[in-house]
Amino acid sequence: MAKLTEIDWDAFEKLPLEAKRPYLANPELPNTPYHTLLAQQFDRDLLERLAALANRIRFMAKSKEGALYLKSLLPHKRAMLYFSQPSSRTFLSHLAACQILGLTTGSVRDAATSSEFKGESREDSIRTFSSYFDMIIMRTPEKGLAEQMAWELSNSDRPIPILNAGSGKDQHPTQALLDIYTLLRSFAAKGGLCNRTVTFCGDLLRGRTVRSLSYLLTNFDGIRQVFVAPKELQVPEDVLDILRAKGVQYAISYNLREAVSLSDAVYMTRIQDEWDNSKGESARIDTHLFKFGEDELKLLPRDGIIMHPLPRRDEIATCCDHDPRAMYWRQMRNGMWIRSALIAMTFGFEKQIMCFGA
Ligand code: NCD
Repeated sequence: MAKLTEIDWDAFEKLPLEAKRPYLANPELPNTPYHTLLAQQFDRDLLERLAALANRIRFMAKSKEGALYLKSLLPHKRAMLYFSQPSSRTFLSHLAACQILGLTTGSVRDAATSSEFKGESREDSIRTFSSYFDMIIMRTPEKGLAEQMAWELSNSDRPIPILNAGSGKDQHPTQALLDIYTLLRSFAAKGGLCNRTVTFCGDLLRGRTVRSLSYLLTNFDGIRQVFVAPKELQVPEDVLDILRAKGVQYAISYNLREAVSLSDAVYMTRIQDEWDNSKGESARIDTHLFKFGEDELKLLPRDGIIMHPLPRRDEIATCCDHDPRAMYWRQMRNGMWIRSALIAMTFGFEKQIMCFGA
């Protein structure tokens, strides 16, 4: 079993993404993550186990008996939510997930209120959190920081797991988990997720949710991926390299209406202008053909769904919100259940929850 204590940081950082997976796993449990940093850690078996566990937790949480049982699992653990980048849903759904499982939480939402402001290094801050907490859920604008912190902690005398809640433009693995969970649930009674067409639209260049979800979809046979965006914001080559290496069918398109009419799921994203190099750069891009409105809704197949990681600006018209195919609100709530499942699994409670009441 590969261990983060047996590889130095430089060598680990350079590994191909899939090769990092064994280093991030829990050595004591079969195919179970310890640190969750990358979409590349999840295969189909693990995704389906997580979805089953999330279904079980959401069912149990409905009854007082089930909810009390869930709350009794982790009252001896504390989680730190360290979010140095804006967040509503990812922060709140992780918080709610912790509450469902009885974990207590602390949070830093602005580095200016922590000792980093006094010149403390990020490494020292994270080491400080590990003195008081048993898990760190972190979102940062820097790519790779969660990985580096995971390596540091695993090589410290108080190793604790890290969950990456969004790292730069790069990865957002727990968002991709809730997206897959939503897709699995949406198509469960309609023949399943394999052989579907998923269209991504919006800022595909800088949206980390797209990069992570595109990878997770490669775990399911026969899924075609279509990328619709203004040419300045089209999907980057590293995403396509993965699809080519795995023999996944994909298409680059500039025609949203045509793509919608052929899609089972349309995944809209906002323009990520916080990453602009110069002021107003994104505003100069013509995005009017990349919005989902009444006309697109008419073209979407009857069993198709519309997804969005949120927050939304104007890329989905509000007139779509009450259509039964608009899945974004349910998708958001799914995040709470799948994150509960991931946290429960990370602490080794998968079997116990699945056996509850059996
Ligand atoms: C996304 C993110 O932070 O990458 N939001 C989220 O976590 N639901 C998408 C976005 O900000 O556009």
